[in-house]
Amino acid sequence: MRVALVTGTASGIGRAIAARFLADGWHVVGYDRAPGAIGSRTETLDVGDEVQVGAAIARLGTSEGRLDALVCNAGISANKPLESLSLGEWNGVLATNLTSTFLLARATAALLRAAKGSIVTIASTRAHQSEPDTEAYAASKGGLLALTHALAASLGPAIRANCISPGWIHTRDTPLSAADHAQHPAGRVGTPEDIAAMAAFLCGPESGFITGAEFIVDGGMTRRMIYVP
Ligand SMILES: NC(=O)c1ccc[n+]([C@@H]2O[C@H](COP(=O)([O-])OP(=O)(O)OC[C@H]3O[C@@H](n4cnc5c(N)ncnc54)[C@H](O)[C@@H]3O)[C@@H](O)[C@H]2O)c1
Repeated sequence: MRVALVTGTASGIGRAIAARFLADGWHVVGYDRAPGAIGSRTETLDVGDEVQVGAAIARLGTSEGRLDALVCNAGISANKPLESLSLGEWNGVLATNLTSTFLLARATAALLRAAKGSIVTIASTRAHQSEPDTEAYAASKGGLLALTHALAASLGPAIRANCISPGWIHTRDTPLSAADHAQHPAGRVGTPEDIAAMAAFLCGPESGFITGAEFIVDGGMTRRMIYVP
């Protein structure tokens, strides 16, 4: 049975990725710092903590004994004006969104190499575009995009590494307006399942010639030219 490790499976996109992989017959190990992670086996941990990640991957080596896919999805933001963003908040976002993938890739490389596995990272269209007051988040996602192609170069050909950059994905119960949907060239806001489908493809047998790539899954928003009248 193929084994996937997915981070942030207690909610949103990570939960949908874990559900998709489970439905596709994978054995899924789900990590989250919050309770409620889903998976065939779950652990509560902070993916930005070197000691916790090292111990968890050692346990994975013992319990599952193999790893075919690593999906680095867990992420946070700290959007606030630059001059009130503390170094601690900056470091917290970088640890969760960027350093975690370094820690997880380093700890799982031997297992992934043995299985000729795949790494998928979840960045954001904010790796390319910004609103004000999003420095930590944007920097972390730009870094994650670059880290992903570095991993592809270092770990290939045994391991492929690709990045998904989602646009607006509706993960909460908040209502959406007709205008929210209509502004997207695809005619709708995205769903967690849209991202899960791409992750499943990138960890599957039909994507064997794809590595170091970024897939923007945003309903066309970053291709839409906007002039203010
Ligand atoms: N929702 C969107 O529109 C959107 C758009 C672009 C990118 N993304 C990215 O997709 C990923 C998932 O986003 P989401 O919208 O599902 O968010 P979410 O908040 O619903 O889920 C994130 C999950 O990660 C977990 N998590 C956070 N920090 C952690 C840590 N240090 N250790 C372990 N688990 C931790 C949270 O507990 C949560 O369950 C994030 O990386 C996010 O930046 C989301």
